[in-house]
Amino acid sequence: MSDLQKAAKRAVGQRVASMIAPGMVVGLGTGSTAALAIEALGERVKKEGLRILGVPTSFASERLAREVGIELTTLDQHPDLDIAFDGADEVDPNLTVIKGRGAAQTREKIVAAQAKQFIVLVDESKMVDVLGTKMPLPIEIVPMAATPIMNKLRQMGAEPELRMGLKKDGPVVSDQGLWILDAMFDKITNPEHVNTVLLHTPGVVDHGLFIGMATEVLVGKNDGTVERIVRATH
Ligand code: 5RP
Repeated sequence: MSDLQKAAKRAVGQRVASMIAPGMVVGLGTGSTAALAIEALGERVKKEGLRILGVPTSFASERLAREVGIELTTLDQHPDLDIAFDGADEVDPNLTVIKGRGAAQTREKIVAAQAKQFIVLVDESKMVDVLGTKMPLPIEIVPMAATPIMNKLRQMGAEPELRMGLKKDGPVVSDQGLWILDAMFDKITNPEHVNTVLLHTPGVVDHGLFIGMATEVLVGKNDGTVERIVRATH
């Protein structure tokens, strides 16, 4: 990651941390950008005595939130969140998003769906005209269904790959104990169709397309500014 990219991620992390008010229940995303936001929020907890409750989207964000002093809760205790923030791998002009490079997309989607506001945090390299051109679509699956699902993805024109561990032999195992397929499409011109087909495929638990969920996107620019793109409401 370049210094400019890191600075852009830090800027959006700080911006979203400044949007959190006392008493809020906050969804804590996963990934390097969300981590910077969690750290910035932890700073506010320490310096201002800000009292909030966080709902983490992964073991990684849970451990970081504890480390920086954010009090945690669960969706069982607090099913309705005021706000959730998270990073993304690609964002299109409709604010449809691909997530899941960190294999956390299933929990991330559950938490985002419970929040009144879902703020997506990206640097400008993540903004694309058409989804799926640079990044594969991560899909969480039940292991025994890997081959049928990969065959189905090939029929859909994608090239699927089972995500393999880096410091572990064999597949990446998600926080739910499941496997991740990365499906490279030529491009995803019809995310709704891909969503419908995948969610009707036995063994698919969820995938990284977030459609109609982001209420706003904060884009960290290389010039140090933050652009705020708010979803139009009808
Ligand atoms: C993890 C995610 C991340 O939020 C997404 O991959 C962006 O990561 P980063 O902020 O490190 O670029 O979806 O599952």
